[in-house]
Amino acid sequence: MANTQPRVNSLFNTYMAYFENTELANDLEKYILSLQSIGIDSNIATKIKHNLKESKFNFFKRDEEVIKKSINYFASCLKLLLNKLYKEDSAYRINFVDSWYHIGSKYSVHHVHKHPGCSWCGVFYVNPGENSSGNTVFLSPINSDFKDYGNKYLFDNEALAVQPKIGQLVMFPSYLQHFQSLYEGDETRIVIAFNCAVYRNS
Ligand SMILES: [Fe+2]
Repeated sequence: MANTQPRVNSLFNTYMAYFENTELANDLEKYILSLQSIGIDSNIATKIKHNLKESKFNFFKRDEEVIKKSINYFASCLKLLLNKLYKEDSAYRINFVDSWYHIGSKYSVHHVHKHPGCSWCGVFYVNPGENSSGNTVFLSPINSDFKDYGNKYLFDNEALAVQPKIGQLVMFPSYLQHFQSLYEGDETRIVIAFNCAVYRNS
């Protein structure tokens, strides 16, 4: 029969998850500020980072208690997320393939990029500074080169700006492009980021 309502489904969902741990943020802030941070110590993609100090990408390889606590917490968050996604109650082997911190000063910015070599990524706001600026902006992975009313729904949802909050962890899939918008606060802005590969034991 003609003109019946179509069956419409939605494909290729993107999941993000949010957690909060202000106690860990406070511990990490003390620790990071006690370290000698000079410039872009990682030496990676230096041209897309401005007014930022960045550690090497093996930050979680350090021995301090606060690092162990961070690894355990971030791994437990990813486990919760995946358990929810897969509707299971499983443990995973989570490998933090990269981990680093950023210390941003006034007018810091980090241009559009994504994180290679992992499935899930996290950004943890240790101290967002004056958080009316310096948002993390995630871009839609759908890339259409034609724009009209027919696909307006795509452009209504083409970016998500996350306003940093102290102790907030945002976990996102590695295929999502994102950037840090211009930070205009005077206070130092500190974030940790990490990339994970995940395996499941049989
Ligand atoms: Fe990033």
